[in-house]
Amino acid sequence: MKIAVIGAGYVGLVSAACFAELGHEVITVDNDLEKVNLLISGHIPIHENLLPELVHRHLGTRLHFSGDIRSAVHASDVVFITVGTPPSSNGEADLSYVEGVACELARSLNGRKVIVEKSTVPVRTCEALQHSMVLNGADRNSFTIASNPEFLREGTAVSDFLYPDRIVIGVDCNHSAEILEAIYAPLTDGSYYKREDAIPGPSDAPSRLIVTSVKSAELIKHASNAFLAMKISFINSVANVCESVGADIRQVCEGVGADTRIGPKFLVPGIGYGGSCFPKDVLAFRSVARAVGYDFELLSAVMAVNDGQKERFMEKVRKALWTLRGKRLAVLGLAFKGGTDDVRDSPALGIVRRLAEEGARVVAYDPAATERAAAQLSDLPTVTFAKSAYEACDGSDALLILTEWQEFRKLNLKLVREMLRLPLIIDGRNLLPAEEVEAAGLVYYSVGRQASLAQPAGGDNTKAFAASTSS
Ligand code: UDX
Ligand code: UDX
Repeated sequence: MKIAVIGAGYVGLVSAACFAELGHEVITVDNDLEKVNLLISGHIPIHENLLPELVHRHLGTRLHFSGDIRSAVHASDVVFITVGTPPSSNGEADLSYVEGVACELARSLNGRKVIVEKSTVPVRTCEALQHSMVLNGADRNSFTIASNPEFLREGTAVSDFLYPDRIVIGVDCNHSAEILEAIYAPLTDGSYYKREDAIPGPSDAPSRLIVTSVKSAELIKHASNAFLAMKISFINSVANVCESVGADIRQVCEGVGADTRIGPKFLVPGIGYGGSCFPKDVLAFRSVARAVGYDFELLSAVMAVNDGQKERFMEKVRKALWTLRGKRLAVLGLAFKGGTDDVRDSPALGIVRRLAEEGARVVAYDPAATERAAAQLSDLPTVTFAKSAYEACDGSDALLILTEWQEFRKLNLKLVREMLRLPLIIDGRNLLPAEEVEAAGLVYYSVGRQASLAQPAGGDNTKAFAASTSS
């Protein structure tokens, strides 16, 4: 199949590389020519596991990059739209990029095309897309519209694409269904998993295909993300109760998640969800419901709990350190989650900003997101960046963990204890084993458990320790 992908962001780039991996001819278009030139020369502008391998495997053979929509459309049977859909000031998704692409597509059609909306959009967007293309001069019979929502998580996007829980295609005619089924056939008939050069994944069972109407597919995306966000806000609320009554959220999650109707995933409490999807999708889904006369109150509560988690974390920091002015704090993690360099709507950045505004000096380290974070925090002179976790800890008053990077689990806690001025770790992601932190002589604040009461091992920390453990 010949495929054009419009928008070489996180979703477009991963989709394009994976379509090439499945054997299709792909042209990826972006209006950012600097990005296009980088990609043509083999540089990947984002940090995404396995993406460089796939791009290098297919670059120049089945995978091409271009700034020219028209020629890409001419060369393709199918066009995927993957431009961004950021939130506008009223909470609705800003669809102006999608509309811009619709206008260009309308002028570029040559023969019958299937136009597939892959960006996250409100229900009825495909209807509006079709209308806009006709208004802009496209012949109604020269194209069909389909919806094919993505469920990619940043950091594991390539694996999520090639080993999906399900592939959803929303179609309103047989032609679109046949084309999309053919594109995903190597995954749904399992032939990809038998290839010797296949990217390894969790299972080689054929992937499940779900065929729905266009509107249902559009709703599946918003409903899935809103449900996952709700699960996180729910467990954060339970964690808050645990802290008050002296229960342990780890044990509670184990017991709750063992019920197969609930499941153990997405039950990790923390400083709230972030990223380019959940915050904007929950807001946009509530707006969609409002626009059709339904007040989706549950989603308002999901957002309120999420905002509250950051404030609760700040309270823990104040409780542990008493006052923040003049304190030097080591911060580990700036990305919105581990395994990515993305800082869009990162709860970690919001907290760093608050710490700096309350007078603390922050020395931050992130394995991949420092450059992007530094650009967003450049107005804060008291925030600086370290090249390693230990450099951040050295001489700092306390250690704060804000992103769930796996490498932070392996910290040498004894060394951390020696480097910190006060024996304090405030972990917003429940990343460390509490018993080991305590054994290293550190006081451990986490989420959904009461702070540990370990005696600090030496050092003149009595005052801070007393402040840190008083209720
Ligand atoms: C995607 C989806 O599009 C969004 O709906 C979903 O919720 C999250 O994932 P993402 O890939 O993260 O967005 O967006 P971004 O990284 O901003 O990439 C969009 C790309 O489209 C950029 O490279 C941008 O230059 C390009 N673009 C944007 C165009 O080529 N043309 C445009 O008119 C607008
Ligand atoms: C999400 C969806 O998972 C994916 O299906 C969709 O296509 C895009 O949006 P992503 O934003 O990449 O993916 O990240 P995800 O792994 O879902 O995490 C989102 C946020 O929730 C992160 O800030 C993460 O730290 C947080 N989170 C996740 C928790 O706080 N607890 C959890 O148990 C899981």
